[in-house]
Formats: sequence, structure tokens, C-alpha cells
Amino acid sequence: MSLNGKAALVTGAGRGIGREIALALAGMGVASALVARSAHELSETADMVEGRGGKALSLVADLADSASLSKAMDRAVSELGPIGILVNNAATVEPLGPSAGMDPATWASSLGINVIAPASLAFALLPGMVEAGWGRIINVSSGVVARPGAMIGGNAYTMTKAALEAHTLNLAAELDGTGVTANVYRPGSVDTAMQAFIRTEGKGRVSEATHAHFMRNHEHKTLLTPEQSALALIARLASDASGEIWDAPDPH
Ligand SMILES: NC(=O)c1ccc[n+]([C@@H]2O[C@H](COP(=O)([O-])OP(=O)(O)OC[C@H]3O[C@@H](n4cnc5c(N)ncnc54)[C@H](OP(=O)(O)O)[C@@H]3O)[C@@H](O)[C@H]2O)c1
Repeated sequence: MSLNGKAALVTGAGRGIGREIALALAGMGVASALVARSAHELSETADMVEGRGGKALSLVADLADSASLSKAMDRAVSELGPIGILVNNAATVEPLGPSAGMDPATWASSLGINVIAPASLAFALLPGMVEAGWGRIINVSSGVVARPGAMIGGNAYTMTKAALEAHTLNLAAELDGTGVTANVYRPGSVDTAMQAFIRTEGKGRVSEATHAHFMRNHEHKTLLTPEQSALALIARLASDASGEIWDAPDPH
């Protein structure tokens, strides 16, 4: 089906995979509300969308702050109309570090950004989607959920992505028959700021083996480009499939 004329909200659209998702949506005639904290990055994405003849609305908001998120969402609906496509792409990989001595509040703060914010957006936008009889919720997760022991020093991140996937699949079952789908996207290892952050800031915080894995992926050029990963997600968007875990293509 054509998505032309629909409206989307994409979190983390200032750079990386989220920016490419917004650009691909623009190419399909979808107007996007772009959410992130960095105004200059959002405005770069918006300029790129507009350069391709698309429509974008930049909304500066911190997913850790429910009031700022809810204000952004209200503006998205009032300026773009009912949001039919929600791509919860933004996430934090922090806190990184050993669990021994970890401050529980710091550990739990990742839940706010990686789980509570995406779920809150879905809860708020669902009434409109269900009423329209059509909607798409995509929660961007990580392949780490399939191998929870693979990212040593990333306990919070691994925990939040597993929770996000359980939330998504349970939601999909609840929405069965409504026309609104909910799916998980695992984007693969992608050449973005998040990967660069783990290579630089993760040294001495994630385990040596985990750090070496991230360094190797970069050196051996086995990372997907953000565009490759985004396009693999976008290719599934029109389908009626729900309750699925979509994997990124193999980079080789
Ligand atoms: N890159 C990979 O290899 C990889 C692998 C597996 C999964 N993923 C997942 O893919 C998604 C996108 O990651 P990426 O690699 O494209 O990361 P990225 O380049 O670091 O981009 C993250 C985006 O999220 C936004 N963001 C982060 N914290 C936010 C907050 N508190 N409030 C609002 N926006 C926030 C960032 O903008 P601001 O900082 O300006 O707010 C940025 O626009 C994430 O869910 C990540 O977990 C990535």
C-alpha cells in the first residue's frame, strides 16, 4: 500500500539511523515530526527532507522528560494531523560500566529514554491510530537481545532493549484486528555516533572483549551504513505483519 500523505513521528531523527528513516519516509510522501535534543542536528535533517521535496517538523525534546515529550507530541499532531506511523528510534547506550557498584538510579534512568518514552508515545498516539483503523509502531531494538551476554558492561542497555521488545510483542497481540501493527526492528551494527561513542567512551567501561569487538567491526568495515539499515526497516513498513522481530540485512 502507498504511505503517501501519511504523517510520522520519528525519535532520534537528528542523525544516524533516525535521520535516514526520516529521509526515506519523505521519499514516500510521508511528513515527519523529528524529535531529538540537538536543535542543529534536527534542523540539518529537516533541511535534507525539504531538499527532497518532503515536509518535516523539528521538535526539540528530551525523552527523559515526560513533559517535554508530551508537548512535542501535541505539536506534531496539531501541525501534521493524526500520526499514523511512530518510529521509536532514539536510545541511550549509557550507563556503560561494571555492574559492581553501579548506582541503581543511574541504571534505571536508561529505562526512561529507552522504554518509558517509546511506550508513552505509543499509548498517546494509539487512540488516533485505532480510530483510523490503521497505524504502524516500530520500536528500534538491538541484536543484543538475542545474545544478552554479548555486551559486557552494557547491562542497562541490554535490559532496556529486552523490555522494549517484550512491550512491543505484547502490544501487537493486544492490537490484533485493529489495523494497527507493532513490530521490533534490530538495525544491525551501523556506522553511527553510537558506535563511535562505544569505541571511544566505552574503553575501560565495557569489557576488553566487548570493546575489541566494536573496534574490529569498525576496522574491518563490517558496519552497515545508516541508510542501508533505515531502508531495510522502511521496506517492511507497508506490510500488515505485526508482532514480528525484523532483522537488518547482513552487511556482506
Ligand atoms: N548503531 C548501531 O550499531 C546500533 C546497533 C543496535 C541498535 N541500535 C539502535 O538504533 C537506534 C538508533 O541509534 P543510532 O546508532 O542511529 O544512534 P545515534 O547516531 O547516536 O542517534 C541517536 C539519536 O537519538 C537521539 N536521542 C538520544 N537520546 C535522546 C533523548 N534523551 N531525547 C531525545 N532524543 C535522544 C539523538 O539525538 P540527541 O543526542 O540530540 O538527543 C540522536 O538523534 C537506537 O535505538 C540504538 O539503540 C543501533
